[in-house]
Amino acid sequence: MPSGGRPWWQRALLYQVYVRSFADSDGDGVGDLRGIVQRLDYLDWLGVDALWLSPVTVSPDKDWGYDVADYTDVQPVLGGMAALDELVAEASARGIEVIVDLVPNHTSDRHPWFEEARSSREARHRDWYVWADPTPDGSPPNNWRNSFGGGPAWTLDEATGQYYLHNFLPEQPDLNWWNGDVRDAFDEILRFWLDRGIAGFRIDVAHGIVKDRQLRNNPDPAVSTYNANRDDVHDVFRHWRRLVDGYRPERVLLGETWVMELDRLARFYGNGEDELHLAFNFPFALSPLDADVLRGIVEATEAALPERAWPVWMLSNHDLARFPTRMCGGDERKARAALFLLLTLRGTPVLYYGDELGMPQARVPPEQERDMAGRDGARTPMPWNGGWTNPWLPLAAQVAPAATQRDDDGSFLCFCRGLIARRRSSIDLREGLYETLSAPAGVWAFRRGEHTAVAVNLSDEPAEIDLDGRRELAPWDGIVADV
Ligand code: NOJ
Repeated sequence: MPSGGRPWWQRALLYQVYVRSFADSDGDGVGDLRGIVQRLDYLDWLGVDALWLSPVTVSPDKDWGYDVADYTDVQPVLGGMAALDELVAEASARGIEVIVDLVPNHTSDRHPWFEEARSSREARHRDWYVWADPTPDGSPPNNWRNSFGGGPAWTLDEATGQYYLHNFLPEQPDLNWWNGDVRDAFDEILRFWLDRGIAGFRIDVAHGIVKDRQLRNNPDPAVSTYNANRDDVHDVFRHWRRLVDGYRPERVLLGETWVMELDRLARFYGNGEDELHLAFNFPFALSPLDADVLRGIVEATEAALPERAWPVWMLSNHDLARFPTRMCGGDERKARAALFLLLTLRGTPVLYYGDELGMPQARVPPEQERDMAGRDGARTPMPWNGGWTNPWLPLAAQVAPAATQRDDDGSFLCFCRGLIARRRSSIDLREGLYETLSAPAGVWAFRRGEHTAVAVNLSDEPAEIDLDGRRELAPWDGIVADV
């Protein structure tokens, strides 16, 4: 954990581990928690301060862990609870924190709560989920659509004659956040992990867990006005913030706030200290690599966030095509420029495993696809240089493996590590305020803190800029200057 005046999660570099694809300790083709333990020295060498683990809880894996059947135990194929405890201890010995994924929007249909809930209309857990009668012609209660394929967000439970809500797969029934017992159950789940030394939570579908109580139709069926995005969710986050604030050392709430309006994003921070600590910025991640567009998003974010709030930036995750392909068209110079921005902006940067290698989106042949929503190309195994036998997804890496890149000073990996080290050693880059500087077309320049200026040329033309004197910027090159 780096030292300094700000809380650790503001100074940290976060690293998302897609556990099934990171490192396999037992040769079954599925990455696991002991595999991560074996790679902690690598992560420490890279300069990582905290890991966000994709879901490790028990799951039938219809949505690869995002369909939870037991919130307080660890999936056996990932190593079980003993392996998680080992990871937390070994990571902590290196000053690395562990954040886990929390899925409060829905459970698996195999969760005992749902199995009981669907047993009868009078079941104890019936109201823990969202049930509604069919319309007179038997069709679903309203026009809400699910996010996987866009069909109805409702499935009829034949036995009890009512529909249940699922904003995702039918095997992922949505919880009813208007039910106080559901809220209490999650308080217990949060405490369970915090008491085990977990440093915080990445909250799945953070913008969507509370639904319209009256189940009103969405005015535009393609827009989730009423089946997500309700302001009532802020009560839940204010409550959770008080709960985690009771723990020392400080813990973190990091929301998957998939909203495209920055003023709405800002609201997940509450007054800057009473809701989420960090709210993911999807407009930034989904932006083209264009100086004006990116600068506009960062300026608008900076302007929208409450004073004490802290941004968080990422370029890739397990749901998006990897940034070197999606944002940079496979051009390594552009990928370096994007990474340069990620690591010089004000806010916590989050790397997705493989980002540090410049790993592009993989082409997974249809017969080897495992994800029902086609996201496998961003989830293929980490190329270490060995370490995988019959992996669950093809080792499709079109990039030099970590071991090779580590020995090559000019590699993407060494470039990334150098930037991380630079950020760590500069209080301005870690903590300083952001201020846009004037720059020629295609160049984005900004000041960080008292004495640091950053400029990145996001164009195919060489450029010149005045920072600490006149500086030349080759196409897609970036500089950090002392001013
Ligand atoms: C967002 C997660 O990141 C994604 O992988 C998952 O499919 C959905 N939420 C549903 O849980």
